[in-house]
Amino acid sequence: MGTQTITDNSDARILVVDDLPFNLEVMEGFLYKEGYTVITALNALEALEIIAKQRVDLAVLDVMMPGMNGFDLCRKIKSVFGNRFFPVILVTALDELKDKITGLEAGADDFLTKPFHTIELMTKIRSLLRLRKLQSELDHSEDIILSLAIAIESKDIYTKGHSERVGTLSMELASFLGMSEEDRNLLFKAGVLHDIGKIGVDNTLLHKTGPLSDADIRTIQEHVLIGETICFPLNSARNILPVIRHHHERWDGTGFPDRLSGEEIPFFARITAITDTFDAMVSSRPYRKSYTVMEALEIMGNEKPLGQWDPQLLDGFTEMMIQHKEFCV
Ligand SMILES: [Fe+2]
Repeated sequence: MGTQTITDNSDARILVVDDLPFNLEVMEGFLYKEGYTVITALNALEALEIIAKQRVDLAVLDVMMPGMNGFDLCRKIKSVFGNRFFPVILVTALDELKDKITGLEAGADDFLTKPFHTIELMTKIRSLLRLRKLQSELDHSEDIILSLAIAIESKDIYTKGHSERVGTLSMELASFLGMSEEDRNLLFKAGVLHDIGKIGVDNTLLHKTGPLSDADIRTIQEHVLIGETICFPLNSARNILPVIRHHHERWDGTGFPDRLSGEEIPFFARITAITDTFDAMVSSRPYRKSYTVMEALEIMGNEKPLGQWDPQLLDGFTEMMIQHKEFCV
């Protein structure tokens, strides 16, 4: 096997962590011959420093190391990369099931048991790098859609920045409610994309200042279905689809498109329904000036008994906004 066989990932940078310099040298020599750029570290702290400062595409970690062992290092690395896929191979001395279980719990993507054959190592490295490449291409398509949503909206002075603000407010509410980092990120993306279906609705209708006919209202309401269709093929937006479809449902069951009520409405859609309305109220519209934060909160609070929003979430949102008015700019 020579360098020419690694066409897909020939520029990949592999971090090898082992407390024994001899092991590092052997691995480095072998991977270097295979055409990879190899970065070595003798302990976990050194490895984390490298990851913080340099691009690394995959890590091979020895499990038995003094100080922070390979399992803990793997856990730490996975948390640094968060939602992004970063492959980690753990090298264990014994083929023990309990080691593999601990490794899997730490987020490891594959294992090598010493002594291992170099072909085995290469196969695992190649397949994980391929996976990483596919994953980053997916992330890239998601970035394109997010940027597109923001760009389209920015052409309109009244809606400029609205979806991004909705995403940020939802994310802040998620933090305020003690939700996970993953949920926070998802809510941000959901906020940015919730109205993407408006691309498919005639602009003159969206900006109409006079009274809307029933047909006009039906056409505008279709944006939730159009948005769902646009984002459906995007794997990474799968968890966002319920927000796109249901952000206009009402707690009392009179919303659209499915007239869901109460807790039938997906939780993230209930959050977005609140932040969407709030941001629309504190922004100017062609037919009215903007409300202040306190005015908007008061109006939403007064409408609470009418049943538009999840009352508990609305209370949480109001409390957060009163404590952190800086969220609204
Ligand atoms: Fe909408």
